[in-house]
Amino acid sequence: PTIYRNQYVPPGYLVEQVEMGFDLDPAETRVATRSTLVKNPDSPERDLVLYGHEMRLVQIRMNGKELTPADYRLDGETLRIPNAPDQVTLEIETALNPESNTSLMGLYVSNGNFFTQCEAEGFRKITYFPDRPDVMAKYTVMLRADKKRYPVLLSNGNLIEQGDLGDGRHYALWEDPFKKPSYLFALVAGDLVCQEEAFLLKDGREVLLQVWVEHGNLDKTQHAMDSLKNSIRWDEERFNLELDLDRFMIVAVGDFNMGAMENKGLNIFNTKFVLANPRIATDIDYFNIESVVGHEYFHNWTGNRVTCRDWFQLSLKEGLTVFRDQEFSADMIGTDSGRAVRRIDDVRVLRQTQFAEDAGPMAHPVRPDSYIEINNFYTVTVYEKGSEVVRMYQTLLGREGFNRGMALYFERHDGQAVTCDDFRAAMADANGRDLTQFERWYSQAGTPHVSATSEYDGHARTFTLTLSQSCPPTPGQEKKLPFHIPVAVGLLDSSGRDMPLHLAPHGNAPEAPTTAILELTEERQTFVFHEVSECPVPSLLRNFSAPVVLSYEYTDAELAFLMEHDSDPFNRWEAGQRLATRRLLVLVDKLLLADSVAQTFDGEDADVQSATARVPSAEQAALIGALRGTLRHAGLDPAFREVALSLPSETMLSEEMDVIHPHAIHRARLALRRMIAEQLREEFLETYHANQTPGPYSPDPQSVGKRALKNLALSYLCELDDEASHELMERQYDHATNMTDRLAALTALVNSRAAGRQDRLNRFFEEFKHEALVIDKWFTLQATARGTDVAAVRELARHPAFTLRNPNRVRSLVLAFCSGNPAQFHAPDGSGYAFWAEYVIALDAINPQVAARLARVMDRWRKYAQPLREKMREALERVAASPSLSGDVLEVISKSLAN
Ligand code: ARG
Ligand code: ZN
Repeated sequence: PTIYRNQYVPPGYLVEQVEMGFDLDPAETRVATRSTLVKNPDSPERDLVLYGHEMRLVQIRMNGKELTPADYRLDGETLRIPNAPDQVTLEIETALNPESNTSLMGLYVSNGNFFTQCEAEGFRKITYFPDRPDVMAKYTVMLRADKKRYPVLLSNGNLIEQGDLGDGRHYALWEDPFKKPSYLFALVAGDLVCQEEAFLLKDGREVLLQVWVEHGNLDKTQHAMDSLKNSIRWDEERFNLELDLDRFMIVAVGDFNMGAMENKGLNIFNTKFVLANPRIATDIDYFNIESVVGHEYFHNWTGNRVTCRDWFQLSLKEGLTVFRDQEFSADMIGTDSGRAVRRIDDVRVLRQTQFAEDAGPMAHPVRPDSYIEINNFYTVTVYEKGSEVVRMYQTLLGREGFNRGMALYFERHDGQAVTCDDFRAAMADANGRDLTQFERWYSQAGTPHVSATSEYDGHARTFTLTLSQSCPPTPGQEKKLPFHIPVAVGLLDSSGRDMPLHLAPHGNAPEAPTTAILELTEERQTFVFHEVSECPVPSLLRNFSAPVVLSYEYTDAELAFLMEHDSDPFNRWEAGQRLATRRLLVLVDKLLLADSVAQTFDGEDADVQSATARVPSAEQAALIGALRGTLRHAGLDPAFREVALSLPSETMLSEEMDVIHPHAIHRARLALRRMIAEQLREEFLETYHANQTPGPYSPDPQSVGKRALKNLALSYLCELDDEASHELMERQYDHATNMTDRLAALTALVNSRAAGRQDRLNRFFEEFKHEALVIDKWFTLQATARGTDVAAVRELARHPAFTLRNPNRVRSLVLAFCSGNPAQFHAPDGSGYAFWAEYVIALDAINPQVAARLARVMDRWRKYAQPLREKMREALERVAASPSLSGDVLEVISKSLAN
């Protein structure tokens, strides 16, 4: 059944108080819930409506009297009580089987301990309740369990009381002083240990911070703790938002569907985003932990104190909170070029995944209009594009204006469940701006295209920029209206310096800005710059000021010029990517022309060598020259040089093509990488040695940047696949003192013909077999290795360490292969697709959310060249025909086949 946004009806009853008692047992947990409800005068709904799912209803009493099935209607997940009085006390007892709960929604067991996940609609798997985010209540929770097996009992808020029950069991009573929607409920019970610290807030209050993990992991919690403290400080400084509880807990769990969950005062995290030490975690892991800890902490205000009226408003909290975590990460780095690298990383994700989503069958607005399964809408559109939408407010209103909007948002809505429109209204009202048209960013799906043309008039000294916008149709939205798009623009003179910008004639103010925010609101608009002394090179969409595709007919020379001179580091990087993309697309065309792709898929790269000369063409030589300049540029941060030297990914290139030829793309990219490696061999070697980070490991931005650049140099050198490069990576692997260097070396090894390859792969497994997160890496690096074909990935799936029960493990192998190894996944015989179909079906029976995520791998099937497209459709149909699919998978597959 499809749910529609415009059919929102306020809840018939509001809940004031909830008291819950849990008798925890893995096979049969009993839950007694007493809630007090009152009729909502603002709702046309007459009935008292509760939701429940996959549990046994033992008893239900209303105002002291037991209800029989004749007193209510049970229809699917809905339990409807007609003619209920205005004031109701409901007492409900339910029985659950947490150990057989493999969906990891509601109450479940992971490695013997109890955890919950209630967002979006998991609370209804614990008890019958008005499980919707606009019903906010205060909770008191009593937990009872065996004291030996479950010495730690946690829930939201403050610990009121704990003690023994005498029979080998004990109890803990928790009270959350804040009203919250049911999706923020949480409990944890088990044999866990914590690192804890007292922390002083800005207002002088002392709070207790805890990071809970399984035994043996206390040597991996310091970074999460530091990240939490930094998050608390940052929210105080940047937004004046304080922690409102006396205690804040993070708990790590190995079986978890998503990254983490912001339950009030009791955040529950995937171990992947908590556990770190130099031995097991990479620089990227360190970064991700900081960012996810920040994200969940920031939800305490953007999500918890002010929550969503309904799930269509999900981006109200997610888009805003992603924006906040991105800003936090950028501030933690501090330097301009460090911020730019962060921005580049975020934009890469957006373009590779969100632009693709926006152009595919699952395209939906940031605020969707309908859904079948809400879990399918925790998407890059809601999160990442949502964050870009929030960022545009800041670009349009300035940082201070944005902060004023935030302050008004909290002033108006603290303690409420609200909508994206309420947020926009706060931004508009706090700044006296009309943001009506801006609403289209929430309601229209699809990625807008902005094309720019320019004209210089030397006589009038004017530079005229014409911008026009369009947006392709998306499912259910044929025609789009113009968006309100901030386009940040700079103009470079012939020496590469920014020109002062005058948008009115005779402007000669000395403080004229060098970046202007042009507001494109119509389909086509012209902007005139005055007092322009020479024909400039425009730098457009600086810092990626809007989530659009921007086209402008730059010459190769202009791109090389921007790459060298643009004061906007984002556009400096962008120019290099555009140039590289041009060269790669030419190569792809050459390969297709040579018409040898299909025949030689299993063979050597003779086709690459015949279609691409060993000696670079003039255009290739120009690109390589520009890359050499960047690589050698001592004034550029290592981290920036690393992103600038990285070629666009195969996925990125696929999105640039009307028809996707995955093998040609793979071979073209490889050919260019080899050519670059050959031409810049000396420079890469020098870079490799110049960017070592001796001494104890530290995840500070400088060291991280050096390691990234050094390991990029290594990966290029390894394209040569010669003895010298083999020796280099073997030596790095054997002497590495941290996981970043070790994994980089092993990844290079696995993609090479080095003799020591298998031996090190085996040793790696042996050394880390007790570290689940590292074994995930072991699977992923093989799943994405060039030589891993479908047969090899099937072999890996038979490894005793592989299981379908653990989402991280599934992602590390199955999803990693299907989405991270395009050349092998798209085997011309369709064997990759058969593998995919098999795993979607098998997983769906265990965990629909994870299965639905895997199902999305086929989103772009219509864009693939034949015969791939036909074989993809067959695989989709095979899944569609499978009996008893979950709504999660059904929604993804049916939309894929329909659009
Ligand atoms: N609110 C969580 C976060 O982004 C994500 C929870 C998603 N849960 C789910 N079942 N889809 O921080
Ligand atoms: Zn979130």
